[in-house]
Amino acid sequence: MKHLLSAADLSREEAVGILDDAERWAATQGREIKKMPTLRGKTVVNLFFEDSTRTRISFETAAKRLSADVINFSPKGSSVSKGESLKDTVLTLGAMRIDGIVVRHSACGAPYQIAHSGWTDASVVNAGDGTHQHPTQALLDAMTMRRHLVEGDVRGQDLRGRRVTIVGDVLHSRVARSGVNLFRTLGAEVSLVAPATLLPVGVDGWDCDVFLNLDEALDVAPPDALMMLRVQRERMSSAGGGFFPSPEEYAREYGLDTRRLARLASHTIVLHPGPMNRGLEIASPAADGPRSVVTEQVANGVAVRMAVLYLTMTGSKE
Ligand code: CP
Repeated sequence: MKHLLSAADLSREEAVGILDDAERWAATQGREIKKMPTLRGKTVVNLFFEDSTRTRISFETAAKRLSADVINFSPKGSSVSKGESLKDTVLTLGAMRIDGIVVRHSACGAPYQIAHSGWTDASVVNAGDGTHQHPTQALLDAMTMRRHLVEGDVRGQDLRGRRVTIVGDVLHSRVARSGVNLFRTLGAEVSLVAPATLLPVGVDGWDCDVFLNLDEALDVAPPDALMMLRVQRERMSSAGGGFFPSPEEYAREYGLDTRRLARLASHTIVLHPGPMNRGLEIASPAADGPRSVVTEQVANGVAVRMAVLYLTMTGSKE
C-alpha cells in the first residue's frame, strides 16, 4: 500500500492487518528503548495546514520511534503565507526527495491531489481533509474498541456483532465518516445520532442507522462503544451558528452526562477523538470516568501510525 487516503479504501483484510501490525508495534512501546531503526534514512514531512495536537504529535512520535527524520511544516512561517500554492509547496518537497508526506488540509481531497498529481513520488497519508476523512483516527478507534470488546487474542479479529454509536456534530466530522466506513468494514453495526441540523445531506444512504434522539438510540440499539463527537464550532459561522438553539440545550439533548452514563451497559466504553468540549458534548465525569478510553485512544494512535507509516513507506507488513 503506497498511500492511505481514506478508510473507505481498506478491505477487511487490510484493516485487520494494520490493526494486527499496530498491536505488534504497541508491544515495542513498553520497552525502555522505544526507538527502532526500521525507517532509518527516510524523511517524513508533517504538512499540516490545519491545527492539530494529537495527530501531528502522534505522527511525529511514530516516525521518530521508527528512526525516520521528521520535518514539521505549518503555513504560518512558511511561504504559504506569501501565497505559494499547494502544488508549488509539494513540488518543493518533491525536489528535496521527501519519502513520506502526512497531510492535514481544510480542503476535502487535498491528500488525493497530492498523491495522484505527479507532483511527488512520496507516500501520502491523510491526517484529516476538511469534513471528509481521517483514516488513522478510525484505525486507532477500532484498535481501542477491539482491545476492549473482543475477548482473548484480538489478532485476526474484527468488530462483528458489536454496535458503535457515534453522537453529535456528524455534519462537520471526518471522524464520523471514516468511522462509519471502517467500523462497517470490520463488521460492526453503527448508529449515528445528531440533531437534523448536524446531519449531512444524503446520510440516509450511509450504511448505518440514524437517530435524532440520543435517549431513543441508547434504548433501541444499546452501544458497546459510544463515541461522542466534538462540536466543531470553528466550522460554524458564529457561536452555535444556528445549528442548535444554545449550548445548554445541545448538552441536554445530545451530551453524555451522568444520567446517560448510568444507563450504559457495564461493558460499554466511551470514546472521544479530542479535543473535548467539556460540559457540551461530554461531561467531565464521563470524560474522566472508568468507561473513558480517551487517553488509550491517544496511546493507540502512535502504534497505528507506526504501522501505517511502515506499511506505506516500505510497502510491506511488519
Ligand atoms: N483527533 C484529532 O484529530 O485531534 P487533533 O485535531 O488534535 O489532531
